[in-house]
Amino acid sequence: MTQAVLVTGGAGYIGAHACKALAKAGYLPVAYDDLSLGHAAHIKWGPHVQGDVRDRAALEAALRAHKAVAVIHFAALSAVGESMAEPARYYDTNVRGTMALLDAMVATGTPHLVFSSTAAVYGEPEKLPISEDAALAPVNVYGRTKLICERMAADYGVHGVKAVALRYFNASGADPDTEIGEKRAAETHLIPRAMMALQGYIHDFQVFGSDFPTPDGTAIRDYIHVTDLAEGHVLALRYLQNGGDPGAFNLGVGHGYSVLEILKAVAAASGREMPAPKGARRAGDPNMLVADPSRARTTLGFEPAHSDLKTIAETAWKWHRIAHPARNDSAPPG
Ligand SMILES: NC(=O)c1ccc[n+]([C@@H]2O[C@H](COP(=O)([O-])OP(=O)(O)OC[C@H]3O[C@@H](n4cnc5c(N)ncnc54)[C@H](O)[C@@H]3O)[C@@H](O)[C@H]2O)c1
Repeated sequence: MTQAVLVTGGAGYIGAHACKALAKAGYLPVAYDDLSLGHAAHIKWGPHVQGDVRDRAALEAALRAHKAVAVIHFAALSAVGESMAEPARYYDTNVRGTMALLDAMVATGTPHLVFSSTAAVYGEPEKLPISEDAALAPVNVYGRTKLICERMAADYGVHGVKAVALRYFNASGADPDTEIGEKRAAETHLIPRAMMALQGYIHDFQVFGSDFPTPDGTAIRDYIHVTDLAEGHVLALRYLQNGGDPGAFNLGVGHGYSVLEILKAVAAASGREMPAPKGARRAGDPNMLVADPSRARTTLGFEPAHSDLKTIAETAWKWHRIAHPARNDSAPPG
C-alpha cells in the first residue's frame, strides 16, 4: 500500500521538489501549506491540505485523514535579514510551528520526522569543510530558531518521535523537467536574483561585499541542486524507516563557489552579460561555508548527481525563462 507522507511547506521551493521525489519513490506526498509563500500550482504529486503549521488540531486531522507514516517539515520563515528585524515572527512560525507539529505527531503516533535545518546553525565556522560535529553557534535569529527546533525534535525522542535534521547548504537550480522551480515574491537568493535582474524584474541587484578574504574577494558557498536535496529527503526517510538512529546530516557537495564564479555561470547559461555592481557587505555574512558531506554519503548513501555548476545554472535559467518572461525589452534573447 502506498505510504502517505505529510510534507509541510510542500508548495514551497524545496518542498515541491521533495514531493516530486517522494512520488517517484512510491510515496504519496500530502502537501500541508498555508500558501503564504508557496504556490498552489506547485502541488502536483498529491493532495493539498491548506493549513497553518502552528495549528496543532489541523495537523492532527491531516495526519489522521491521510494515515501519514511520517512528516517532512519544510514550512518556515527563512530570510536571514528579516529574521533580525522581526524575531518574534520567526520564533512563532519556526519554533512554535515545529512544537505544534511534534505534538500532533505524538498525539497521532506518527513516528518519523525529517526536519529542514540549515548551515546557518554553524554560524562563522572555525574549520572548513564543516562537519556535523562543528560548534553550533548561529549568528542570526533564523539560525537560532532552526537550532532550537533541532534540539526540540531530538528531545521529543522520549515521546516516541525519531527525527533526522538535514542541514542544507545553498539550495539552487530547478527541476530538470521545468515543472517547478524557485519563485518568491521577495527574493533574497543570489541565483534567482541575478536571473530576475537579467529578466528586468529587479533593478537593485548587487554583489554584497568584495573584500572577503577569498581569492576574488566575494563570499564562497556550497551550492547543492534542489533535485539532489529532494532525493536526500527520500534517503533520510528510508533510513529512519529502516531503523536508523536520529541525528543530523549536512547536505552539500563539499566544495564552494564565489559569488563572481556563480555570476559567470549565470552569464554562460543565459548567454547574456551579467552585471556585478559592488554593494556593501551584509552584517553576519560568513566568509566561506562549505560542507563536509561525508556522513550523509556513508550513512544515507547521498550522492549528488545534478550539483555541478553548469547544471545548476542551466536548470535555473530554463525555469526562470518560464517563471519570469522577460520584461526587459532591451535584453538580447538568451
Ligand atoms: N532555500 C535554501 O537555500 C535553504 C537553505 C537551508 C534551509 N532551508 C530551509 O528549507 C525549508 C524550505 O525552504 P524553501 O527555500 O523551500 O522556502 P519557501 O519559502 O519556498 O517554502 C516554505 C513553504 O512553507 C510555507 N509556509 C510558511 N509559513 C507557513 C505556516 N505558518 N504554515 C504553513 N505553511 C507555511 C510557505 O507557504 C512555503 O510554501 C525552510 O525550512 C528553510 O528554512 C532552505
